Amino acid sequence: MLNQIEELASKAFGELNKVTNLEELEAWRVCYLGRKSTLVQALRSLIKLPLEERRVIGARANEIKNGLEAALAQKKESLGQGLTALSGCESLDVSLPGRRVSLGRLHPTTQTLDEICEIFKGMGFQIVEGPEVEWDYYNFEALNMPVGHPARDMFATLWMDTEPSTQFGAMLLRTHTSPVQIRAMEKMKPPIRIIAPGRVYRYEATDVTHEWMFHQVEGLAVDKNITLADLKGTLFEFARRLFGKERKCRFRCDYFPFVEPGGELSIDCIACKGIGCRVCGGSGWLEILGCGMVHPEVLRRVDIDPDVYSGFAFGMGVERIPILRYGVEDIRLFYGNDIRFLEQF
Ligand code: PHE
Repeated sequence: MLNQIEELASKAFGELNKVTNLEELEAWRVCYLGRKSTLVQALRSLIKLPLEERRVIGARANEIKNGLEAALAQKKESLGQGLTALSGCESLDVSLPGRRVSLGRLHPTTQTLDEICEIFKGMGFQIVEGPEVEWDYYNFEALNMPVGHPARDMFATLWMDTEPSTQFGAMLLRTHTSPVQIRAMEKMKPPIRIIAPGRVYRYEATDVTHEWMFHQVEGLAVDKNITLADLKGTLFEFARRLFGKERKCRFRCDYFPFVEPGGELSIDCIACKGIGCRVCGGSGWLEILGCGMVHPEVLRRVDIDPDVYSGFAFGMGVERIPILRYGVEDIRLFYGNDIRFLEQF
């Protein structure tokens, strides 16, 4: 019996050397160390032997068994190294093609902002920015909306829970980019031609057409002899560069306390070309911005003499542009961060 075991052992060690993968190793284990293997069976049958023999054979058989187990563990480790170990699984197809790395892209809002800014840069406008957390003074007061002015109701305001400043009043999240007009005119001397892109905030319940945060682009030009014709010419040109040469534009009167006269610019509907559809609410026109000649009172506030200088200003919503262009059905998609929406742009 002892001979038999020794023979088995040398055979087992020999075979183990030929093992090249984990599958073969498992077969080897079943054969030499499995429950039905000769060695394990032999160990079981020791009980039938006389005590003396049992002690000798038993000791040797156990030694061999431990040796084989150790060799098995070692082999397993050496086979498991490299890619198989890295993958944490027993087999790895190293010929599988890799996963494609998807390219990032700019957010549709950023793309639109860039496009708008590029157009106005080409017309000689300079890009400036202002703070999103503003004072009442810049957001309302200096724009001809003193405390209690009914036009404040047009702007559902998010007020900050902070001490008001004695000079500038309460703190708020700007409801439009128009306060940047005031900040620019405080710092610069005419001629001024600026574009101010940025986020604005409104205290509003969100739905398909409303977000509590969105973007605007403000424009302001102040110089001697600026007239309504300059405003119209600039905005006509802008609309055609952004929406296509064939665009028709329409100006209509509108009211904003910081401009006089005030207006709105519409283009003929890009979906139905002016016939009337769901996008334009049947009117054939899409309103794209508010504008007007800077109110003399606003110029006076920033120490620009309205008898010498005049200016025009305009402000437009940014998200509205890709909404109209691509027929986006819900403004909340813009900031929901769903990659399936964003990767379409
Ligand atoms: N600030 C105005 C708004 O948010 C738009 C506007 C800007 C109108 C400049 C006239 C001049 O509705």
